[in-house]
Amino acid sequence: MTHSLTDQFRWQARHCLPGSPLYAALLGAMAEDLAAGGVTAAVMERYRDDPPTSVPPLRLMGALHRMVLERRAPELALHFPSVGGTASVRNAWPAAQRLLTRHTEDLADLAGRPVQTNDVGRCAALVGALLVIGQRTGLPIRLFDIGASAGLNLNVDRYAYAVDNRTLGRPDSSLRLQSPWRNYPAADLGRPLDIVERAGCDPFPLDPGTAEGRLTLTSYVWADWTERLERLRAALVIAAEHPTTVETSRAAPWLAHRLGWPRTGSVTVVWHSVVWQYITLAERADIDALFAAAGDRATDTAPLAVVGMENAGEAGTRSRFEVVLTSWPGGHRELLATAAGHGIPTTWVTAHGTPTPYRA
Ligand SMILES: C[S@@+](CC[C@H](N)C(=O)[O-])C[C@H]1O[C@@H](n2cnc3c(N)ncnc32)[C@H](O)[C@@H]1O
Repeated sequence: MTHSLTDQFRWQARHCLPGSPLYAALLGAMAEDLAAGGVTAAVMERYRDDPPTSVPPLRLMGALHRMVLERRAPELALHFPSVGGTASVRNAWPAAQRLLTRHTEDLADLAGRPVQTNDVGRCAALVGALLVIGQRTGLPIRLFDIGASAGLNLNVDRYAYAVDNRTLGRPDSSLRLQSPWRNYPAADLGRPLDIVERAGCDPFPLDPGTAEGRLTLTSYVWADWTERLERLRAALVIAAEHPTTVETSRAAPWLAHRLGWPRTGSVTVVWHSVVWQYITLAERADIDALFAAAGDRATDTAPLAVVGMENAGEAGTRSRFEVVLTSWPGGHRELLATAAGHGIPTTWVTAHGTPTPYRA
């Protein structure tokens, strides 16, 4: 378990690898600067006692990245690939240090904002789970995303998935998830997804239709993780054409309303990805009770499925994400897959632990 800010920066620096050598180097340098009482300590002073779950190191990196994206940090921008710079692990820290010194108060304010991401790579897991559910029930899908952020994962059926030598989903989509899977989900991959209703909730939703919403989303993507930035940008283009509904609410009250009545002739699917860690134990208990009550009302013609992609690793250790499906009637719970934190790759497990062959 990490506690002091310095420890949190050191821990985060290690865990930015292999995805982001730039952030690993910057956070490592900031950790030493914090320990030495340098400018990083001045910027983060008011957050000294913040819990690790609020990820202060990534809040500060988001603040720096926002200034780069806003063209307020030209020297640091030279090292940020998100704006055409060349990631230079050696030279980025002196530029960041000068920015921290020049904009101490602004950066301290920005570092107070919560990390707010929306990772469409997680559709690698969601699309496979929906294929399984669609095949098993034979019903159209109502998709509800709790902790939906900007609602980008609600457009799951509007993306292309390049799986081996074929493309699933929308082949002409501007968002193409390349090699999203290891193994295959136990479903007919040729079956199109039929999503008849889609909506989400989030206590702090971001609007991808506004410049501010797009800036915030982009600022929390690690600036040298080009693949994730490209995926986000492509998803934002699709969201402009297909805006989704994300209502401002915590999960429990929203679900109480949405799951209040079963809808005959469709399967209700509740999806949550990387949300559980932000929800209090009391609210989680409420959500579990709501699922159980809605599950009791579920029937074969109005079933309920809950799919979660959440960290099953011990606190303070490397994350290990599991994709778990619970289906009603019955409340049967099964592990569908394990996944990388950002969704790709998603590794499907099967009853016999062997890859499922394609059924064209
Ligand atoms: C790491 S983001 C994941 C966003 C999205 N599910 C994804 O996979 O890209 C966690 C989200 O959970 C939201 N959140 C925090 N507390 C919540 C609550 N009580 N109910 C629902 N969502 C919550 C946050 O606002 C944030 O958008």
